[in-house]
Amino acid sequence: MQSQPELIRWSELTEQLAKVLPDPNSSPGIPPACYADTEILKQEINAIFHRGWVCLGRSDRWVNTGDYSAMDIGGIPVIVVRNKVGELKAFANSCRHRSSRILSGDGNCNKLKCPFHWWTYDLDGKLKVYPRMEKAVDFNPDEFGLVEFPVASQDGFSFISLENRPPPLNDWLGDFESFHGPWGLDQWVSTRVREFEVDCNWKTFIEVFNEYYHLPMVHPDSIDWLYPEPDAVDEVSGQFTTQFGATEGAAALMADSQDQALPAANGLSGRDCCGTRYTWVYPNLTFAASQDSLWMYQAFPLSADRCRVLQTICFPAETVALSAFENRVIHYYDRIDTALNEDLPFLLQQQIGLKSKFAKQGRFSALEPSVAKFAYWYSQRMLEGLERT
Ligand SMILES: [Fe+2]
Repeated sequence: MQSQPELIRWSELTEQLAKVLPDPNSSPGIPPACYADTEILKQEINAIFHRGWVCLGRSDRWVNTGDYSAMDIGGIPVIVVRNKVGELKAFANSCRHRSSRILSGDGNCNKLKCPFHWWTYDLDGKLKVYPRMEKAVDFNPDEFGLVEFPVASQDGFSFISLENRPPPLNDWLGDFESFHGPWGLDQWVSTRVREFEVDCNWKTFIEVFNEYYHLPMVHPDSIDWLYPEPDAVDEVSGQFTTQFGATEGAAALMADSQDQALPAANGLSGRDCCGTRYTWVYPNLTFAASQDSLWMYQAFPLSADRCRVLQTICFPAETVALSAFENRVIHYYDRIDTALNEDLPFLLQQQIGLKSKFAKQGRFSALEPSVAKFAYWYSQRMLEGLERT
């Protein structure tokens, strides 16, 4: 049973979340406690990460049979692995013997072997080896396969759901394809993947990637000049927000590297040939699709004030095949790293302020419509979750 002070706090939070509206120009932001409070994070994980679909990464992170990653999806240890017939599989990373974590990190394997007592599963999660179990009465190994989660892919992005019966990924993503189809992203190749941790809430990391407001203040000498006023944010039907903006040259290159620009992807035409589509697939995947490159981030909560970030950079397959690619791509990596390094100190400052009990809900600028769209989506999901508990 909740104590009296907790009841007051949750009712305050509910009131604050209910004030968040779809119109950015009329809405306050997400309550600051949602970026700093451990109890709220637990609610968030149930309401946001354990429902619907969560992006695992680009499908080509696991190209070969046996390629695997041990991931943490909303506090759940998960194994992602490519099986022998080329399907991407996801299993609970908990041995069916006494629940030890089986794998950590990334790598390639031909079986999933728990190091504790050597219970061993094939790449479809079936239990194959179980030493010294002869005397176990009525022990049927077929009943001790790994718990499996649904996995589905769209445009080269792979998703997992921790729900028993999730909606089809197509329904979840709605009209995603009509905005991103021209890029032909399922034919793009990941050329660099990096993982790191940041001392900020997972939401703030993704928010800064999705707004033009901070560009002149935070990136005055690096990338601000690239971005004139963007188009209005698109009205969409799926669990994402997206906004296109024309750019001055290649958005993924600094001013002094524009002569290193790689060609636009086949299939792009008109304004798509010189611009960037910034998309946030809820809850925690965001990417920028430019005419020549894609850079994306996934941010996973480690705690309320720390997140683990996966950064992936991709190019069209035909671009990667160019002889000039290897020399030119360095300039793309440099631009993306520079912008990120400029953002990071501001995220740390923001987190310090968010932790204060005197932090209050703010207001959005018209240059933050995608952040506001997420805020509304998030608030509605949290309210639904709080109602269920
Ligand atoms: Fe930035």
